[in-house]
Amino acid sequence: MPKRVAVVGAGPSGLVTVKELLDEGHEPTCFDRAPDLGGVFRFGELDGVVWKSCRLTSSPLLTSFSDFPAVPHQLMHLSAAEYVEYLGRYCDVFDLRRHIRFETSVEAVRRDPNGTWLVCTRDASGTHDLRFDAVAICSGLHQHPHVPTFPGKETYTGTVLHSAQYRRPSQVAGKRVLVVGAGESGADVTAEVAAHAAETVLSLRRGVAVQARVELGKPRDLQTSRLMNSAAHWVSQTRNPADDHKRRVYRRTFLPFLLVDKGLQQISRFFFNFLPMLCAADLGVIRANVRTRKLSARLLQESGGTFNEQFGTKDDRFVRAIATGRCRRVPGITRFEGTRVVFDDGSSFTPDLVILCTGFETRTPFVDETLAMAPRFLHTFHTEIGSSLGFIGFVRPAFGAIPPLAELQARWFALIQSGRVALPSQAEMQRSIDDWRRFRAHFFRAVKGRLDHLVEYTPFCDELAERIGCKPAWSDIRRESRRFQRKFMAGPFVAAQYRLVGPHAKPEIARAVIESAPVVHPLPDRLYLHLRWKLSRMLCRLRGPEFAPKLELAGHDSRWSASRS
Ligand SMILES: Cc1cc2nc3c(=O)[nH]c(=O)nc-3n(C[C@H](O)[C@H](O)[C@H](O)COP(=O)(O)OP(=O)(O)OC[C@H]3O[C@@H](n4cnc5c(N)ncnc54)[C@H](O)[C@@H]3O)c2cc1C
Ligand SMILES: NC(=O)c1ccc[n+]([C@@H]2O[C@H](COP(=O)([O-])OP(=O)(O)OC[C@H]3O[C@@H](n4cnc5c(N)ncnc54)[C@H](OP(=O)(O)O)[C@@H]3O)[C@@H](O)[C@H]2O)c1
Repeated sequence: MPKRVAVVGAGPSGLVTVKELLDEGHEPTCFDRAPDLGGVFRFGELDGVVWKSCRLTSSPLLTSFSDFPAVPHQLMHLSAAEYVEYLGRYCDVFDLRRHIRFETSVEAVRRDPNGTWLVCTRDASGTHDLRFDAVAICSGLHQHPHVPTFPGKETYTGTVLHSAQYRRPSQVAGKRVLVVGAGESGADVTAEVAAHAAETVLSLRRGVAVQARVELGKPRDLQTSRLMNSAAHWVSQTRNPADDHKRRVYRRTFLPFLLVDKGLQQISRFFFNFLPMLCAADLGVIRANVRTRKLSARLLQESGGTFNEQFGTKDDRFVRAIATGRCRRVPGITRFEGTRVVFDDGSSFTPDLVILCTGFETRTPFVDETLAMAPRFLHTFHTEIGSSLGFIGFVRPAFGAIPPLAELQARWFALIQSGRVALPSQAEMQRSIDDWRRFRAHFFRAVKGRLDHLVEYTPFCDELAERIGCKPAWSDIRRESRRFQRKFMAGPFVAAQYRLVGPHAKPEIARAVIESAPVVHPLPDRLYLHLRWKLSRMLCRLRGPEFAPKLELAGHDSRWSASRS
């Protein structure tokens, strides 16, 4: 029976939720307090979050929804405005706009004792109480700036902004600017400020896992592939001491192969990392390339973990600004003192403007706090409330994109509303929450208590897909051409892979996206990644499931493959 579902928010997560609910025959009503769609990516002089020049950090192939590829053949990152255009086209093609009420704020979401939900909204005509069978909260992770307090901040006489209030270079031109933090906001803002301010100083309380957004002329995130993520994470990606035993067994069992692995890595580094760095017409550029590389390595060392043990900052232009002397790096802030800011090493700076790029707080003030803050099953469902309340888009991949994750959550939520998929028992959901929490504590050890919603992209996607029934099995893949199989394994980790089989499969679209995507791993990388994957699988067969590879497909036909068209 169709359900009436309230969807809070018309950002990427809200839009895809409306679309998936419609596909399942439900009746969604979406509310957004903003005047138009786009969420974070909608530019607003006063009410937005993004700055004018903002480009997405994830490339279009990785950010697109599974059945609606972004501009064909567009490999390079979209601007925020282009991404909002993409979302607009998505709405037009799937006729979503008539289900959205803009300039309507959701003030409260309450559960009625009879199991339905009361949603209190406010628009130009006043407040309204509306009743729904279910509610999807898609109000975004990055709507509420995190503004930390520092000792003496109230004495500071200059201007303090959060990155969400930064719009364009004219705000910093000719000023002495202190930027705090180097997540992706800090990285982008520092690069732009350093090009326009009189003096730029960047304060970091720890290092950063930073990489270039573009490598060898293509977005670096196209290297996020199944092949890259197939071997168990302890083989090479993380360094948790609890995994030392497994690493030892792996090394002892496969020693000769590890030498081949190492050799291929060195070849790859030399030809595809080191040589391109030296390929510049100008000695100054070569010097800056080398310094940027060295500084990035030092920042990683100071970050307290490997690349895979924290979130990544996918733009190294701020490192280049430091390397070329356009920006100075200082440690964390000790205190503010009138016009001065004093840092942990005793040095100080007298900025005209401080830009806090210190991230966002996860808040849903219209939902009861105990409900909003409780850990959720796969970050989506509250164990006690169950299926009638879904949180969609409250996950952040360390590397990857949020919209495709939100899409998988939305597909799962919609199928559950229809009764085509059921939630597991409360005890099983709790077990999963505890398992992920334990895994997270050692896996993301460099993040130090922040960002509870951080997930490892590829296995998290696969787990959601398994719940939905849209994760392909090996037998589904082996039926395809050799070319397709190569692209499926070594090509970018696109959401379209989850439209090959299962509910609402669209195999033609999926095949076209997968086959048109480039394989960007250089040949030596492909060889050693393949080797690791095969060895990892072999070890799992020899020693048992605790040695399991990170990503694996079932050997048989997937549950839903009968529904392939
Ligand atoms: C500068 C910047 C750049 C980013 N770039 C990328 C990127 O390249 N790739 C990527 O994957 N992620 C990126 N992100 C992360 C980005 O926040 C998420 O990908 C994206 O916002 C997820 O969409 P969403 O719909 O969940 O949330 P949002 O985009 O935040 O949308 C939430 C919507 O809910 C509405 N809303 C909130 N509360 C209410 C209420 N009470 N009543 C009514 N409406 C409400 C808001 O108005 C908003 O429109 C970026 C974030 C920032 C800040
Ligand atoms: N171009 C783009 O696509 C783009 C641009 C901006 C943002 N984004 C996305 O938006 C999301 C938010 O990114 P973000 O950079 O705004 O936030 P973020 O990733 O959470 O980074 C916040 C930064 O502030 C620092 N910080 C936090 N609290 C601090 C404190 N009390 N004192 C000093 N430093 C503090 C953090 O340091 P620690 O690491 O030490 O905690 C970190 O460097 C991410 O998903 C990101 O991918 C994308």
